[in-house]
Amino acid sequence: MKTLTVFYSRTGNTKKIAQETAKLVQGDIEEIIDEKNRNGLLGWLISGMDAILKKYTSIKQIKKNPSQYDMVIIGTPMWATNISTPIRTYIHNYKDDFKNVAFFCTSAGNRPKDTLKMFKDMENLCGKNPVALVSFSERDIKTNSFEKINEFAEKIKKLEL
Ligand SMILES: Cc1cc2nc3c(=O)[nH]c(=O)nc-3n(C[C@H](O)[C@H](O)[C@H](O)COP(=O)(O)O)c2cc1C
Repeated sequence: MKTLTVFYSRTGNTKKIAQETAKLVQGDIEEIIDEKNRNGLLGWLISGMDAILKKYTSIKQIKKNPSQYDMVIIGTPMWATNISTPIRTYIHNYKDDFKNVAFFCTSAGNRPKDTLKMFKDMENLCGKNPVALVSFSERDIKTNSFEKINEFAEKIKKLEL
């Protein structure tokens, strides 16, 4: 099975999980780069507004064609209980190229209701049911509580696609 892990990360948390996931599933990785500057407090505020308004952004040219993969694993930080704008844009632009999807997210806290709502939104945008889901709080990441990634990766690897 050919697997691609796609992620956006403003401050490194989602990147950490994406790198570990790609390593475990032995697949390729693609970082989504936003053309919009989201640094600092202003960047934070703009990002929150963009996410609430479900806006799109301009992302840099991708390097890996998702249609070449059996599985696309998509990772996003949570922004104002929503999908981050760069990942919303990626899904919007390439959803027709996905064969199978799995999702992960990172967030400051652990609010299952918000996470489920966000995953549902990703599912609707992709038009596909995810085969696996997992979420990480900042605490999980700081304490390297990565067991959940192993379970997530194992679930994906066991699929016969
Ligand atoms: C604009 C913005 C809004 C956020 N909103 C939430 C939120 O609603 N709930 C939450 O738990 N964390 C929220 N966070 C925290 C991030 O989801 C969390 O720090 C995440 O791990 C950041 O990932 P990154 O380092 O890959 O960018 C928000 C962060 C930003 C920048």
